[in-house]
Order: sequence, then C-alpha cells, then structure tokens
Amino acid sequence: MVAGSAARVSTGLGGLFERPGVRVEVRDLVKIYRRGSLEVQALRGVSVSFEPATITAVMGPSGSGKTTLLNMIGGVDRPTGGSVDFGGVRVDGLSDAELDVHRLLNVGFIFQSINLVPSLTALENVELPMILAGRPRGERRARAERLLEAVGLGGRARHYPEELSGGEQQRVAIAVALANDPPVILADEPTAELDYEAARGVVDLLAGLAREAGKTVIVTTHDPRVAVRTDRIVRLEDGRIVGEYSPLELGGALQPGAKAGHEALAELVRARIAALEREIEAVEERARRGELGLREAARLIVALEEEVKALKGVLASLGG
Ligand SMILES: Nc1ncnc2c1ncn2[C@@H]1O[C@H](COP(=O)(O)OP(=O)(O)OP(=O)(O)O)[C@@H](O)[C@H]1O
Ligand SMILES: [Mg+2]
Repeated sequence: MVAGSAARVSTGLGGLFERPGVRVEVRDLVKIYRRGSLEVQALRGVSVSFEPATITAVMGPSGSGKTTLLNMIGGVDRPTGGSVDFGGVRVDGLSDAELDVHRLLNVGFIFQSINLVPSLTALENVELPMILAGRPRGERRARAERLLEAVGLGGRARHYPEELSGGEQQRVAIAVALANDPPVILADEPTAELDYEAARGVVDLLAGLAREAGKTVIVTTHDPRVAVRTDRIVRLEDGRIVGEYSPLELGGALQPGAKAGHEALAELVRARIAALEREIEAVEERARRGELGLREAARLIVALEEEVKALKGVLASLGG
C-alpha cells in the first residue's frame, strides 16, 4: 500500500518541482492573542526546526497552538515575540507586502475544510495561484494538468469540487498548494474530514512530496495513524513543545521514565496499535499471495495480536 502510493506519486513528480525544501527554524516563538482585556497565550516560547525532505507531524490537544504555529511560519499572522527563519529569511521581519509574496510563492497551505473555489473546475482551481503569480497562460494550464495527474486526478480536471469525493477534493487542494512550487508545505489537519483510506492516501502523498521532491512538509493531525506515516512527531501542549518522537521508536515511549504525559503516551500507544494492525494486514496479504506459509503466518499474527492486546491494556490503564 505504501509502496504503491509512493510509486504513483513519483511517476508524476519528475520535472514538476524545481525548488527543494528549506530549513524552517522557529526560536522562542510567542503568540498572544488579545481580545479586549482577555489575553490568550497561544504559543509560549516554542523552539523547533523543520528540515527539507522531511515530513513532520505536529500533534497536540485542541487549543495547544498547532494552527497558530503554522500561521506564524506561513506568514498568515505575526508573532508577538521570537523569530521564524525560513531558509535564511526572517519571516517575522517581512513587511506586509513581502508577506503577501511569501504566502503566494513560498508556502503551500492545505486546510481541514477544503477551500476550493466551488465555481471553478479542478483545473481552474489549480491555475488560480499561478494567475496570481503572473505565470503565462499556456504554461500554467500545462502545469495544472500535470499537477492533477501527479495527485492521481488526471481524469478529473474538468470536474467541479462538488463532483468530487472528499479525498479527491483534498488532492486537488494539494495540487493547488503546489502550483507555485513552494519549498514548504503546511497542512493543517488535512485528513480530519476523510475516512481512513482517503486519509492514508493524502498523508502518503504529502510524505512523497517530502521524500521524493525534497519539500519541507509540516502536517498537524489528531490521528496517530496519520502521524506514524511521517518521519517525525512533535508534540505541542498548551503552547509549548513537550516531546518529540520518532514514529519508528514508538515502543520506546512505553519504557518507564520516558518523558511523556499521559495523553501523549496514550496517543503514541494508539499509534503503535494502528501500526501493528497494519502489520497484521500485511502478513495476511502475504499469506494470501502464497509468499508466507500458513503456519508461519498464523504464528506471526498471534504474536502481533498479543502485542495489540497488551497495548490495549496499557491504553485502558491510561484512561484512553
Ligand atoms: N484569532 C484568535 N483570537 C483569539 N484567540 C485565538 C485566535 N486564534 C487562536 N486563538 C487561541 O489560541 C489558542 C491556540 O489555538 P490554535 O488554533 O493554534 O489551536 P490548535 O492546536 O490548532 O487547536 P485545534 O486542534 O482545535 O485546531 C487557543 O486557545 C485559541 O482559542
Ligand atoms: Mg488547529
């Protein structure tokens, strides 16, 4: 499944992207929202870096500051304090006009509520950012077509958003975000409204952009099954970074003394359970194809299921 999706991405990526990712370095970032006399500290001194060719998941409870962090990096809003270095350029030091250009050319945004223009076809939606960037008509049409092919929607270019499934709409939105070949992709809960199959397709597409096109990809998510498909998980709580995990090392978080709050741990456990369940599926598939003897498959599945059962016990003890 993973390999299949990656292959589908890579066939469309050749020559589409010329601008590799850049390093994004956030230092002591503070964001205070003021409404009347009320103050909300959305970010309380966040320091973290995001590397090119890497997809990072930012996880954390609702209100922990995930969207705010993306908005500071993307130049949607200005920090109250601290700095955002974007490939050597200080985003927090840009003028309003420069920020407009930054958002148009350097950052591809993808949102939870898919924001396509309903009166434009998929193709026209993808062309729009290139029109704003002043690209010639012929060039932008050809590129829009190729981008739609790259996200697996070559046959849907003339469809309007309402004629597409949620997963397909989100793929169009990714093509829109990629129109001007931005080095950095910021995806804010892009899979929240999708079922798991569609969500997996979207996250694998985003992962392909990092791993194959070298983009810097940051994705916020509540779904551990999405997070485990990334290269790195950063955990935010109440405006602070409270942990960083490798999806491959989730088991390590279960060791006594691991620095994780209960909810952080529960999320990691859920993620590990999801990974194990995928492994079980993979074993079953190999057995079906005759690549694995039935007895060996049964042995593996029993072992994996025991681990799942044990982890579910851990989850129950954590109140999850
Ligand atoms: N424009 C705003 N004005 C005032 N407060 C805001 C504004 N935007 C966000 N906040 C507050 O800042 C905090 C962080 O919000 P943010 O949207 O970054 O959280 P989040 O982690 O993205 O949450 P969710 O998972 O629900 O999307 C919250 O307490 C929120 O209410
Ligand atoms: Mg949010």
